[in-house]
This record gives sequence, C-alpha cells and structure tokens, in this order.
Amino acid sequence: MKRAWKNQVVVITGASSGIGRATALALAKKGAHVVLAARREEPLDDLARECESHGVRALVVPTDVSDPAAVRHLSAEALRAFGHFDAWINNAGVYLMGSLEETPDDAFRQLMETNFFGTVTGTRVAVTQFRRQGQGTLVNVSSTFGAVAAPCVSAYVASKHAVRGFSSSVRQELLNTGIDVCTVLPAAIDTPLWQHTANYTGWRVRPVEPIYTPERVARAILRVLREPRPEVIVGPAARGFAAMHGLMPRTFERTMRGVTHAQHFEKVRQSPTSGSLFRPMAEGTGTSGGYRAAGKQWLRRLLLAGGVAAAAVSLRGGGAGRRLGVRVAHALAR
Ligand SMILES: NC(=O)c1ccc[n+]([C@@H]2O[C@H](COP(=O)([O-])OP(=O)(O)OC[C@H]3O[C@@H](n4cnc5c(N)ncnc54)[C@H](OP(=O)(O)O)[C@@H]3O)[C@@H](O)[C@H]2O)c1
Repeated sequence: MKRAWKNQVVVITGASSGIGRATALALAKKGAHVVLAARREEPLDDLARECESHGVRALVVPTDVSDPAAVRHLSAEALRAFGHFDAWINNAGVYLMGSLEETPDDAFRQLMETNFFGTVTGTRVAVTQFRRQGQGTLVNVSSTFGAVAAPCVSAYVASKHAVRGFSSSVRQELLNTGIDVCTVLPAAIDTPLWQHTANYTGWRVRPVEPIYTPERVARAILRVLREPRPEVIVGPAARGFAAMHGLMPRTFERTMRGVTHAQHFEKVRQSPTSGSLFRPMAEGTGTSGGYRAAGKQWLRRLLLAGGVAAAAVSLRGGGAGRRLGVRVAHALAR
C-alpha cells in the first residue's frame, strides 16, 4: 500500500475481537476505511461505530471464512461499497488444544478449514482483485507456531505452518507484480483467543508468558502495510524461540514440552469444549482477553528467561549453548 493512509480501503477478517479489532481501530485512527468481517454481527456493528467516530467509513459483512462462498461475498460487498480495496488481512482464526488422540477428527478438519483454507480463499479473492488493480497488499496472520511447535497443539501448529508456507509460495509467484504478500507471526497475545479455544485436554488453558498486547500486533500489521516485508515476527519471545529452535531443535523441543505443561495448563479441570470452532461464542468481544497482569509481567519474563537460559546451558554445556541461552534469555526479558 505504501501511500498515505487517508482513503485507503482495508478488509480485515476476524475483526470482532482481539488482534483484528485492534488493527481495525488503529487503521481507522490513521484515516483508512475498513471492511469488517467475522461471524458475530453485533460486535462488528459496535466496532464499526467506533471506527466511524474517527471520520472513516466502516462496512460490516458477517462472514464465516470456512465457507468459500461467504468469503467471495465479502470481496463483492467491499467492491460494491468502495470500488476497490488496497489491502486484505486474513486474520480470522481459532486455537485448539488437545493431544493427537484427544482431538476429534472433525475438530482437526474444521480448524484447518478456518485457519488455513479460510486464508487460502481470502488470498484467492484478494489476489484476483489486486491483479485487476495492478497492486495490493495481502497480510496473512500466522503465529510463532508457524515457525516452531509445542505439544497438544498439533492441529493449530499444522494450520499456522500451512499458512506460512502457503504465503511464502504465493509471494514468490507474485514477485514484481505490484502485489505484496506479508506473513505476520505473533507470540502469545492477550486477546479473547483463549476463551474461544477449542479445548479437549480436560484442563483450563491460558497463554504462555510473556504475553504481548494486541495493539503491538496491530502496529506491526500497519508497518507491513506501509512498508511490505515478507515475514514479521511480533514479540521478542517468538524471535528467541525461533532462533533457539533453529540452532538446537532437540533442546528446544524438550524445553517447550516443559514450558507447555508448566505454563499453558491451569490447575483447573474443564470439560472438553469446541469453543468457537464450529459456532461463534457470545463471550470475548473485546480487544484484550484480560490475561496481562501488568504488575507481574517483568517478574514472569525474568523467571521464564532464567528458565530458558538454564535449560540451554544445562542441556548443551558448551560455549555455543551458553551464548545462545544468554541471547534467548535477553530476548525474553525485553
Ligand atoms: N492471541 C494469540 O496469542 C495469537 C498468537 C499468534 C497468532 N494469533 C492469531 O491471530 C489471529 C486473531 O486471533 P486473536 O488472538 O485476536 O483471537 P480472537 O480474539 O479469538 O479473534 C479471532 C477472530 O477470528 C474470528 N473467527 C473465528 N472463526 C471464524 C470463522 N470461521 N469465520 C470468520 N471469523 C472467524 C472471530 O470472530 P467470530 O467468532 O465472530 O467469527 C474473531 O474475530 C488468529 O489467526 C490467531 O490464530 C493469535
């Protein structure tokens, strides 16, 4: 997009809460018009009013991204209202926790329909229009789990690795066409994602520290809209994890297993739930999920940084392991 924000038109899927909502508000404050998509109409209407209070136009199009016809309808509505769109953000997604054996097959498949095939259909319709216009910017939201993995999230990890690989391939196809494809990989973010999670583990889950704000991801998305880049990792912890995985994959996997069991599960039983996977939930319409207890952030980061550094040093006593441990710890503590 690389031009002034004023009068740019941006389509955002998954705008009814969390990162999508934060991004829509950030764009509206800059003067861009927004097309807001998700399944829940009421929170989208509220968001549209908030965006319009900044002097821009906001169009609400209730959309289930796992339905290709609905995504095509979203594109058609955006074009009917504005005549074009400058950027399209494939952000809609659901988290799923459960071991391979706990996760029902239909849940695994629906997660891929939403997180991956929703992105594929969104990319298809956006690229079709960008070709007509001779330009456009596509942003696909992946995750740290598009670069690394943890236990009990195999469906989500598969979907986010798929988004990342798919985007890289399409980016190469579209080189020098005026169409940019950017992938954003956020670390753990404080959004309602965790309330919406499909969870078959039997335990309540919470995000793994350190947790960053959705506004931080929104700022990163706005930056790639202005200055497109192939991939952006949001949150130093995610950069630390990706670096550690690249250099010491076995150590990383052992560490992640420990971190997941110690931090991702709360010690509270919960009946299996499909969360918002098949149907949207009334809960969780805000930008934040309420997980960031600001006062304890620095302490949690310090403890996690110390834990990762200790694990790296003890499992690979050599100089390289120690240096990496210190680098990862430094990144996590920032
Ligand atoms: N929070 C994190 O830690 C984190 C980290 C890395 C990546 N991400 C990614 O960031 C994106 C946004 O998540 P979030 O954290 O902002 O969580 P969120 O608050 O739960 O937002 C998810 C959004 O996706 C929409 N959505 C879900 N299923 C949909 C469907 N079938 N069709 C259309 N919209 C659908 C939801 O709206 P409706 O329910 O109204 O449809 C909601 O607007 C996701 O792709 C997620 O995987 C999040």
